[in-house]
Amino acid sequence: MITKEELIRELNGDLAYEFAAAIQYVQHVATLTGGEFQSINAELIVHVNEEIGHANILAEQIDYLGGIPTMDVAERFTDKDSRKMLEQDLEGERLAIRRYRERVKQAQELELYALETALKQILADEEEHERDIMEALGM
Ligand SMILES: [Fe+2]
Ligand SMILES: [Fe+2]
Repeated sequence: MITKEELIRELNGDLAYEFAAAIQYVQHVATLTGGEFQSINAELIVHVNEEIGHANILAEQIDYLGGIPTMDVAERFTDKDSRKMLEQDLEGERLAIRRYRERVKQAQELELYALETALKQILADEEEHERDIMEALGM
């Protein structure tokens, strides 16, 4: 079973990924080209704001658990090719989904139900982000 300290460390990892996701989306929104990506571009601006919202929720939960929210930013990716950029975004969303599915289970194990609820709401957003990008890529 995970300890509270380990959970705080993992949540800080999630927080660094949220910061990275927001930054990556800002850059991709500004540089994506091609008429076929016009509608996803508007959607990605929504993603930017939702990732920042996730960062706020995580930081509050980390503080509530007695940890210090990180200001670290995970690795960001970009490319000259618009399709490749969307594939990078998709990879990020899939990583987030894997991480939050694990985190929900850990919150359950520790009987942290407010955290579990917050994580499930974030997870639902990430699943929607994944679908948005898959649709834009014609998957
Ligand atoms: Fe997120
Ligand atoms: Fe996301």
